[in-house]
Amino acid sequence: MITVQNLTKRFGAKTAVDDISFEVRPGAVTGFLGPNGAGKSTTMRMIVGLDRPDAGSATIGGTTYREHRAPLTEVGVLLDAKAVHPGRSARAHLRALAATHRIPDARVQEVIDLTGLGSVADRRVGGFSLGMGQRLGIAAALLGDPHTLILDEPVNGLDPEGVLWVRQLVRALAAEGRTVFLSSHLMSEMAQTADDVIVLGRGRVLAHTPVGALVDGASQQSVRVRVDGAERLTALLAAEGVTVAGIENDVADITGLPPARIAELIVGAGIPLHELTPQRASLEEAYMALTADAVEYRTETTR
Ligand SMILES: Nc1ncnc2c1ncn2[C@@H]1O[C@H](COP(=O)(O)OP(=O)(O)OP(=O)(O)O)[C@@H](O)[C@H]1O
Ligand SMILES: [Mg+2]
Repeated sequence: MITVQNLTKRFGAKTAVDDISFEVRPGAVTGFLGPNGAGKSTTMRMIVGLDRPDAGSATIGGTTYREHRAPLTEVGVLLDAKAVHPGRSARAHLRALAATHRIPDARVQEVIDLTGLGSVADRRVGGFSLGMGQRLGIAAALLGDPHTLILDEPVNGLDPEGVLWVRQLVRALAAEGRTVFLSSHLMSEMAQTADDVIVLGRGRVLAHTPVGALVDGASQQSVRVRVDGAERLTALLAAEGVTVAGIENDVADITGLPPARIAELIVGAGIPLHELTPQRASLEEAYMALTADAVEYRTETTR
């Protein structure tokens, strides 16, 4: 369990994290979402004692990160995968970390294998690609077999196989009862990986909810219907007080009536029905709606 209470961080005049409180529960994957500059990394850094809060506190299993006697075995952290001496090999880096906690060499080899770094483990980290560096960062986070994982954009730079691997890995770790807290900008990936999401915007918590609830709450559910004779359908729906926004090529998107009622009407009127599909909003749509006012660095096209 990660507990954040009234956490605040200012950089000069900028309030990066603004009095936020939340709990990240064990046995689940919690996604940490939010626009660039929302304060995700700063929050994670405060949780692991790398940034000092101006107010509030953060604990992991009831204890601050600094107070943990063997932090690597409590909390695995990936914050900046590039923070590794470039002249060292991946194995030497992991060994050095392991030595601080008397973690045996066998475990170093285990995380090298687990993260797919076997063939490059003895090469200088300075020559690593983005994804290889990211894998090394994940290896380091897993080294102490920790109860809690805090991963800042772990899939950034990973190839599709790597993205899938991270998803399966964090799901498995959560299923073992561990606390997994990870940030990402990949909404479709988060939709498949996270149980819960915390959405941050301008340093504040905009939502903390099961991922499904965020999607369901975001937009009115619509139903896509394809029929022969869209005009009859329009008239039928008008009698129910429902107006159809747009019909193209006999395909209509209908909001305001449950799918079963729409089917009943169409079949009852003897209109040939070819398709009836409830449309589910995506996490991306839900996220966009939620953060529309909290985006600081916006491009013209999405305005
Ligand atoms: N060391 C620092 N000095 C000054 N300002 C900082 C520092 N670290 C972060 N900030 C500012 O704090 C705010 C939050 O930054 P943070 O890195 O936490 O955002 P983020 O949500 O992780 O964004 P991203 O999605 O781009 O990684 C930003 O406005 C950033 O410029
Ligand atoms: Mg960040």
